[in-house]
Amino acid sequence: MNYETITVEPVSPHIGAEIGNVDLTRPLSNKQVEELHRAFIQHQVIFFRDQKISFDDQIRLGRYFGPLGSHVGKSTISKTTDNPYVRKFHYDEKSTQVSGENFHSDQSCAEIPPLGSILYNHTVPPDGGGDTMFASMYAAYDALSPRMKTYLSGLTATHDGTRVFGPGTPVSVHPVITKHPVTGKKVIYVNTDFTAKINELPALEGERVLRFLIDHCNKPEWTCRFRWRAHSIAFWDNRCTHHKAIWDYWPNVRSGYRIQIEGTAPPEAG
Ligand code: SIN
Repeated sequence: MNYETITVEPVSPHIGAEIGNVDLTRPLSNKQVEELHRAFIQHQVIFFRDQKISFDDQIRLGRYFGPLGSHVGKSTISKTTDNPYVRKFHYDEKSTQVSGENFHSDQSCAEIPPLGSILYNHTVPPDGGGDTMFASMYAAYDALSPRMKTYLSGLTATHDGTRVFGPGTPVSVHPVITKHPVTGKKVIYVNTDFTAKINELPALEGERVLRFLIDHCNKPEWTCRFRWRAHSIAFWDNRCTHHKAIWDYWPNVRSGYRIQIEGTAPPEAG
């Protein structure tokens, strides 16, 4: 694909690209926004380096992709800030856990899960660590056997937010195989954190099929691993990816802010 205003360097065969030649502390031109949209859809997660952004800059970037939303759960790991759209993701020697240590898509327990999330880290551990892994659910779907694809078609799963965020968090039913609203490509839509069961199968069969799918989705073959530097940004498409935060840096500090963009409709069956 041709880009005129930005540079786009894929970081793995299936997922992820680093974007260059853009300054996110300033408003972008229509052409830059159009090219960022294309890169986001094509690579599923896009990365930026050396962007010393403010909350306003982060919010402006998000709004090029849609209205911003807020977290559906009462997470005590990430924190609210004085801006209703921005959550603080800060870990240090006092942390007893970090957010997102299992592969997951954000808040798939919501009836309409977020379209995507933008995480900015201004501080990273001095000796490395704290990478985030991203997995392409297009590639995971494509690698299933034709018989398994047929078997999964038409099934639904329950995504239970109380498993992660406790009482009062939504519980929703989504198709096991969904269709990305922009590309129309099929995606495996179950994940470690939120998916409690496959609804149409007997308990043991459903449990084993879900286990198979989660192990399959978590395979390194369809992942990339983002090595943070101070003032980097990761912006992922929550409709076709999973991600996992690696907590290998305690007691060092990793600190930043995340916003999320609202989804437009419940996930559609693929
Ligand atoms: C998350 O959004 O689940 C956390 C990602 C990260 O901290 O790398």
